[in-house]
Amino acid sequence: MTATHGTTTRTAAAHERVEVTLTVNGTPRTASVAPRRLLSDFLRHDLEMTGTHVGCEHGVCGACTVLLDGAPIRSCLTFAISVDGRELTTVEGLAADDGTLHPVQQAFRDHHGLQCGFCTPGFVMSACGFLAENPDPDEDQIREGMAGNLCRCTGYAGILDAVKQAAGAFAGSATHPCEQHRVDADATDGHDREA
Ligand code: FES
Ligand code: FES
Repeated sequence: MTATHGTTTRTAAAHERVEVTLTVNGTPRTASVAPRRLLSDFLRHDLEMTGTHVGCEHGVCGACTVLLDGAPIRSCLTFAISVDGRELTTVEGLAADDGTLHPVQQAFRDHHGLQCGFCTPGFVMSACGFLAENPDPDEDQIREGMAGNLCRCTGYAGILDAVKQAAGAFAGSATHPCEQHRVDADATDGHDREA
């Protein structure tokens, strides 16, 4: 009887759902998730935002990197319920609505900082977080800042050049790199309203 009760308890816990509400790329999103749902799975499966990639699933490769309140985190090591009420930026939130690439994305394109592209969303998000903290880095600082991301195609030279170019795009700007297009859009809206 005790065993049956224990089994029942475990089954109930396994089916427990918790509502999570957070802001993703400027938009409030809510979903009901299991308490152990990983943020990477929450993004990819519950919100169907598959730009965030999952490689090692244990915090080594950096492919799953997203920004939490502007700072890079491993979404594969983060429970979705732990970010309830917070602000998240994923790679889908970087380009402008008209498809114009974000300066970090453009820099990766310009310098061939990707080959198969699997690691790229993680590198781009890490670069945004890194440049927010280090707007004018030297090469050693870039190497150190990007050291938490792995590229199986080993295209590191292009990646370093890309981050160098992107740093130039944000030099002297008080805007967080991940906010670039949202700020540009607000400014454009303002001009439209004044016209
Ligand atoms: S998938 Fe998260 S660090 Fe590799
Ligand atoms: S471009 Fe292929 S894993 Fe980095």
